[in-house]
Amino acid sequence: NPPAPIDLKRYIREVPDFPKPGILFYDISSLLGDADGWAVALERLSRATMACAPELLAGVESRGFLLSAPLAGRLGLGFTMLRKPGKLPGETISLSYGLEYGTDALHLQKGAVKPGQRVVVLDDLLATGGTLEASIKLLGQAGAKVVGAVVMIELEGLGGRARIEGLGIPLTSLVTYQEA
Ligand code: PRP
Ligand code: MG
Repeated sequence: NPPAPIDLKRYIREVPDFPKPGILFYDISSLLGDADGWAVALERLSRATMACAPELLAGVESRGFLLSAPLAGRLGLGFTMLRKPGKLPGETISLSYGLEYGTDALHLQKGAVKPGQRVVVLDDLLATGGTLEASIKLLGQAGAKVVGAVVMIELEGLGGRARIEGLGIPLTSLVTYQEA
């Protein structure tokens, strides 16, 4: 028999009451710090990403960069940043989105994507889906053809998947946790 596939959850540390009481935080620091965990994660992210046949990758500030930039290097693809306000020089387009408390916004440089370019967007984690939904809409407004969304961790029960698939975007996650 072939060896059982490695369970990536063994590299993800669960930290109770961070950043606030009652929140269970899934910490990928331990995965990034382990050569085997990192290799397996990148291999699985590569497969999920290449299944969408992208021409460009997009990553969401800040933890999304940890996965998307090394993946782009490995796949021989370009990479573009979806950033928080005030970080990108030159002209940008932006989209505001709602958080649990208040709003935030993501920016993208003008000209960062070519019209009709096939883009896969990556983030470390999907919870409510607000961040990824805003990313997908912003890339669409910039003229990209978003062909997929890939995350390492999916929290189930918060409506995130329905929100992304409702936009017609296929979503792949490497590990899932039941939240609600
Ligand atoms: C976290 C996480 C995702 C987002 C998921 O980012 O990295 O980007 O929240 O939540 P959602 O699906 O409910 O939108 P955070 O805003 O904490 O910032 P960081 O990546 O800069 O640490
Ligand atoms: Mg984030």
